[in-house]
Amino acid sequence: METGTEKWKRNAARIAAELIEDGMVAGIGSGTTVAEVVKAIAEIKPKSVFVPASKATERLAKRLGLRTDALEKYPMLDLTIDGADEVDPNFDLIKGGGGAHTREKIIAKASDRLVIVIDRTKLVRRLGERMPVPVEVLPFGWKFVNKELERMGGIPKLRMTQLGKPFITDNGNYIVDVRFKRILKPKELEGKINSTSGVIENGIFAGMTDMVLVGYEGGCKTIKRKGELLRFIERFES
Ligand code: A5P
Repeated sequence: METGTEKWKRNAARIAAELIEDGMVAGIGSGTTVAEVVKAIAEIKPKSVFVPASKATERLAKRLGLRTDALEKYPMLDLTIDGADEVDPNFDLIKGGGGAHTREKIIAKASDRLVIVIDRTKLVRRLGERMPVPVEVLPFGWKFVNKELERMGGIPKLRMTQLGKPFITDNGNYIVDVRFKRILKPKELEGKINSTSGVIENGIFAGMTDMVLVGYEGGCKTIKRKGELLRFIERFES
């Protein structure tokens, strides 16, 4: 049986797919929402090239007949479409629930525009309300990095697979999920975590998003301005 959120994701995915124009080179992130976007794009079959952020997205896109290529060949992208684990009223994000945030941040930064596609359960008033911050770490240094993250007020936990082994990213590294009581300054925390030796990249994406597409029971809300997002959050709080 299909759940509400699955339908909401598809509502937003259909609108996201329409943003792809013939001739574009587009980055495409990862996760279950992005999988819906890839399926919706494949129905339209635009003459565009896609640079996927993860091996899983690349496999799906290829299977559905989309043309994929590497960032090495197309280092400048017109647009990136991606999902998120949390989106706050300032358009700041937590990503990396699937452990792909390092490549996702690279393609986002290589793009003229970043469009985030979510269902409304991902909206939060403050980052960290529900999700920890994923940090990709070089395996050699993970215990040292954990100590540093604790000094920043975080509670780090090494991500494990169901088989009880450390989760390994597409880049061959570990993920440490870090709980912070309150993230008051996302941009500052993003920079601070990344300045620790051994950290590859963290899942805070501050000041990068241009547009948010939110799937909900009424369809999809396209949000281009920050105040609008807060009003949309408030709508579901009463
Ligand atoms: C992958 O590492 C993430 O950044 C995803 O974009 C994020 O976890 C959202 O995934 P879902 O769309 O599956 O919730």
